[in-house]
Amino acid sequence: MRVRIFDTTLRDGEQTPGVALSPEQKLLIAKKLDALGVDAIEAGFPIVSDGERQAVKLIAHANLNAEICGLARTSKKDIDAIIDSDLSYVHTFIATSDIHLQYKLKLSREQALEKAIESVEYAKSHGLQVEFSAEDATRTDREFLKKVYAAVAKAGTDRVNIPDTVGYSTPQYFAEITKDTVEVTKLPVSVHCHNDFGLAVANSIAGLQAGAECAHVTINGLGERAGNASLEELVMALQCLQFDKKWETNINTKLLYDTSRFVSNLVGIAVQPNKAIVGENAFGHESGIHTHGILNNPLTYEPISPELVGRTRWFQVGKHAGVHGMLAMLEDYGVKPNEEQTHQILDRVKAIGDQGKHVTDVELLSIASEIMGERGIKRIVQLTGFSVSTGIGTMPYAFVKINIDGKDYFATDYGVGPVDAALNAIQKITGKISEVRVKEYRLDSISGGSDALCEVTIKLEDAYGNKVSSKSIGEDIVTTSVQAMIDGINRVMLKKSLKESKVGS
Ligand code: KIV
Ligand code: ZN
Repeated sequence: MRVRIFDTTLRDGEQTPGVALSPEQKLLIAKKLDALGVDAIEAGFPIVSDGERQAVKLIAHANLNAEICGLARTSKKDIDAIIDSDLSYVHTFIATSDIHLQYKLKLSREQALEKAIESVEYAKSHGLQVEFSAEDATRTDREFLKKVYAAVAKAGTDRVNIPDTVGYSTPQYFAEITKDTVEVTKLPVSVHCHNDFGLAVANSIAGLQAGAECAHVTINGLGERAGNASLEELVMALQCLQFDKKWETNINTKLLYDTSRFVSNLVGIAVQPNKAIVGENAFGHESGIHTHGILNNPLTYEPISPELVGRTRWFQVGKHAGVHGMLAMLEDYGVKPNEEQTHQILDRVKAIGDQGKHVTDVELLSIASEIMGERGIKRIVQLTGFSVSTGIGTMPYAFVKINIDGKDYFATDYGVGPVDAALNAIQKITGKISEVRVKEYRLDSISGGSDALCEVTIKLEDAYGNKVSSKSIGEDIVTTSVQAMIDGINRVMLKKSLKESKVGS
């Protein structure tokens, strides 16, 4: 059974508190969604602003494969804005629950029904494809909901959508009202589920099983409050879980992670690490029991293979680590300790873990090199001093002192801020040994207040295509960024030197 994926990242997703995109940014996301293979893109709500109309127009003219749709209330003015944006597909909605009618719209049920019919007829008379939504459908009186959907079907709507506007439905009830809707409209039915109780994907699946054929979703589950059903979770659940029928979508699942990262960076909303499919930890393993299982057969602790969604598995050593995972990490760098050395390395790793810290692969290699007395895997670059100055009316400036293989280097540089200045100064030195470029820099705040902990993630690449990512947590943004950078440089240089030593051996 083919499921139509209607992506509303650019409309409902943009309603995430704190998110506002420029027309150019919206176009970039639309292109990514199109490449991912979504069937329809809700590009925006044209009536809300000139910029929104401009964005929708840009997307409408971008020659994408996906159908492009815009949102409109059941009013002529909103539908005219859709036409003015050069769209030929409108998603029009009016609330039908008594709570919304009484406290928001101040309309009777009959008045709302009339407006719904009028706007469907108006949009159809202008040649638009129409998808009608009864907002807050799941809290609408069930008989009235059937009456509304039957009436808009009669008025000529092409599709109907069932919004669980405040994520209030259970899967069972959602299935029941979906069956009602299919029965009274005989039209293609979409489901639009919000995640207030964490049930958005489950409710969407229940709707699809009950006869709906399209799901409204967003990348990373972005959306008002707790968000919408997440595209990546729904698509992978449909593809991988056991159902009585086989579901198919047009999504190129290998692009899911890349698309998630792209959207997260552009909208400035970080993805929680334990988020299914696209969270940083979704394919990471630390405990000894799990890594042992994974190394024997990944299916033991990975329900899907990471490559399927464009990701790679990673291991972390820490206090829960076991021999197998640790050896696999060392093996990745070509390091093979003997049995006694293995136990000594593991003891050191666990001691660090017991102090509440995690061990990066650079630290692991440095411990291994100390115990094994090996050359080539020691911590090559060490920061031995740095200072920054910044303020108003002065250009941010940094001084760094770095020791590389026992030799001291100094550099100073300017930047747009103290972090940029410090990273520029570091690159001035390390660039002489290995051309390392910062591909991505991300700063997240872990706790609130001006003394919050921050987390810096840096992705680096050298001239030979060696890519690494490093993370550092601390109280001072500049120091934490510098530490992440130095860790990353060590990692990239280790990768390079270990590759060279393997080639030479
Ligand atoms: O959640 C909702 O009810 C909506 C409507 C605009 C359909 O997003
Ligand atoms: Zn919504």
